[in-house]
Amino acid sequence: MESVNIKVKRFDGNREWIDEYRVDIDERTTLVEVLMNIHDNVDPTLSFRVQCRAAICGTCAVRVNGERHILACKTKVKELVKEGEVFVEPISNVDVIKDLVTDHGQFLYKLKDVKAWFEPVEEFQPVYPEDLQKFDKETDCILCGVCYSICPVFEMDKEFGGPINFVKVFRFWKDKNDALGDERIALADKNHITSCVHCKYCTFACPKQIPVEQDIMQIEFYGKQKGIIKQQGGGGFSTPFGF
Ligand code: SF4
Ligand code: SF4
Ligand code: FES
Repeated sequence: MESVNIKVKRFDGNREWIDEYRVDIDERTTLVEVLMNIHDNVDPTLSFRVQCRAAICGTCAVRVNGERHILACKTKVKELVKEGEVFVEPISNVDVIKDLVTDHGQFLYKLKDVKAWFEPVEEFQPVYPEDLQKFDKETDCILCGVCYSICPVFEMDKEFGGPINFVKVFRFWKDKNDALGDERIALADKNHITSCVHCKYCTFACPKQIPVEQDIMQIEFYGKQKGIIKQQGGGGFSTPFGF
């Protein structure tokens, strides 16, 4: 057992402050277990999001030590401790409702803008492992919002669809039984895909190891070759990478 200091950024709808809690952890204690322990035994006013506790539902994402975005249910506290402390904040780019609870509706409603659902072709074709491989990784997206939270583009282009939207575009565009085909690329254009600055923060932070930036790159490359994507730095935001 080890004793660590957990600092949590609090918000009650009006004011922000930081609370500190002393907790005992072992090698396997996850951050969500610590938050639940605090809530159940020390401070029932502490609010956070948790559901599956198995890295499947995507609800428990938080920012830690001002630098990492993680799933609290998947990450062991031991890996996060710095000089005996862990600082926990809500994810960014979304409104905070209370403490660590954020409004995921901000990125979930945006999914409609890219028709992030399957549109079946009339005649279904058999799917072989090599077909599935083209978008298998993207089907792992759990809509946790980590990539959305970490993306720097929203500060400059409010119309930017965001990395989650482009992962969904990629997933359905690569599926031969999806009927929309190049319409999906046009939707990516409409959602300012060219505002992406290819910093790769989304790829590095994604808890499901989805190559988000690479997907965006592929969509952009294809769209420009076909003349579907015409914007250069959608929203008037140009990048040092020539996209
Ligand atoms: S690579 Fe693009 S989408 Fe990903 S975080 Fe950077 S700017 Fe955002
Ligand atoms: S792409 Fe990764 S980081 Fe972004 S919402 Fe999906 S699982 Fe989360
Ligand atoms: S509680 Fe479901 S992903 Fe963490």
